[in-house]
Amino acid sequence: MKLQAIRGMRDLYGEEMAQWQSVERSVREVLSRFGYQEFRTPVLEKVEVFTQTVGEDSDIVEKQMYVFKDQNEETLALRPECTAAFVRAVIEHQLHKVGRPLRFYYYLPMFRYERPQKGRLRQFHQFGAELINDSSPEADAESIVLLDAIYRQLGISEYVVKINNIGTEASRGKYRDALKDFFKDKLSELCPQCQKRFERAPMRILDCKNEACQEVAKDAPVILDYLDPESRAHHERVQHCLKMAGLSFEVDPRIVRGLDYYSQTAFEFQSDLLGAQSALGAGGRYDGLAIRFSEKPIPAVGWALGMERLMIALEAKAALPKSEGKPQYFFAPLGPEAFDVLYGLSLKLKRAGVWAELIYEKDKSLKAQLKQANKSQAPFAVVLGEEEIKKGQAVLRDMGSSSQENIPLNELEAHLLRRTQRAT
Ligand code: HAM
Repeated sequence: MKLQAIRGMRDLYGEEMAQWQSVERSVREVLSRFGYQEFRTPVLEKVEVFTQTVGEDSDIVEKQMYVFKDQNEETLALRPECTAAFVRAVIEHQLHKVGRPLRFYYYLPMFRYERPQKGRLRQFHQFGAELINDSSPEADAESIVLLDAIYRQLGISEYVVKINNIGTEASRGKYRDALKDFFKDKLSELCPQCQKRFERAPMRILDCKNEACQEVAKDAPVILDYLDPESRAHHERVQHCLKMAGLSFEVDPRIVRGLDYYSQTAFEFQSDLLGAQSALGAGGRYDGLAIRFSEKPIPAVGWALGMERLMIALEAKAALPKSEGKPQYFFAPLGPEAFDVLYGLSLKLKRAGVWAELIYEKDKSLKAQLKQANKSQAPFAVVLGEEEIKKGQAVLRDMGSSSQENIPLNELEAHLLRRTQRAT
């Protein structure tokens, strides 16, 4: 049997891996600057962590979760998203009781059984940022500004920030009724899934990607006309805060999000750079999520960004970072004796913190080795042949200018170490 990676799951290596690492470093740097600390949860959770929170009628719970029974007959799920798992961990470790806002981020693989296409995978990676113990609109705006800062740090600004307020759980009843009233005589125009959504989750119809459903939903009542005064004030203040921070955005009442746990602020960063998909990143406030695990709400707001989609956006802009890793020295031995000298030295230098590259092919010509040295982008090559050994000297070659100098062999190690220290 020919074994291949599972459909929708990718291997990462080489130049692409180096680009990911460089982008990961930039994202982490912005998150640290905003005061967010890393958090990791296990890849497996009890299935209820997601079924109780994300919503029974959501795409994730209905058809996208990887669920299986372990040897103990316990039903487990591979994490399809991390907010619910994060809140499970917050409650388990009583972090909400510290009495002050806490900022966490994660960078983890997620698993959703979706139809794979560009920008949509079955194993994908999310950076997520969550701010808990803070119910203020200022926290919502900070969260949005943080996501914007990450894209801008990487040179991406071709997106629209869409924000909405979907009210509190209590205030949504009237809106749901209005939606049902609107859709009830248009059911035959909706896709089969939206016909199912009509009874229990009419708001999800607004989120459907089917064009026919979008056409019908165009004239549906908008949530902003049904907001309670508290939600309205919250929404106004979030907008004011974003303006104070100099961020442009659009209010879009159709941003309702496909997960059940949101209340109040919901937002999406949409970009044409992505082709088939449009959401670069998305999030919102989820004060009510904790109630599904315990008695009390925990005010919280956050987002997640898709790493694969971020890389597609960077590629579309030809802004992918160049890989930074290159050796400081390329060792080119000629003959077995020279090979042994440079073999020992390259490992000693690596242990001391200097990257000296040596290829374990012993009979390559000088020309072939210098070609490899060029390819490796090492600024210097060290050439050692039988003649040089006799003279007790090695040749240090500047790969840029091709100028050379002789270094006494017994001083070579100290010389290369000194040179590297001076350069850094
Ligand atoms: P989400 O909208 O399901 O939200 O996902 C967030 C982002 O993950 C999307 O905007 C997209 O960039 C990326 N994404 C989602 N599915 C895929 C996929 N199959 N392949 C590639 N990328 C994908 C959440 O997951 C929430 N937990 C966000 C959140 C955090 N809300 C509050 N805190």
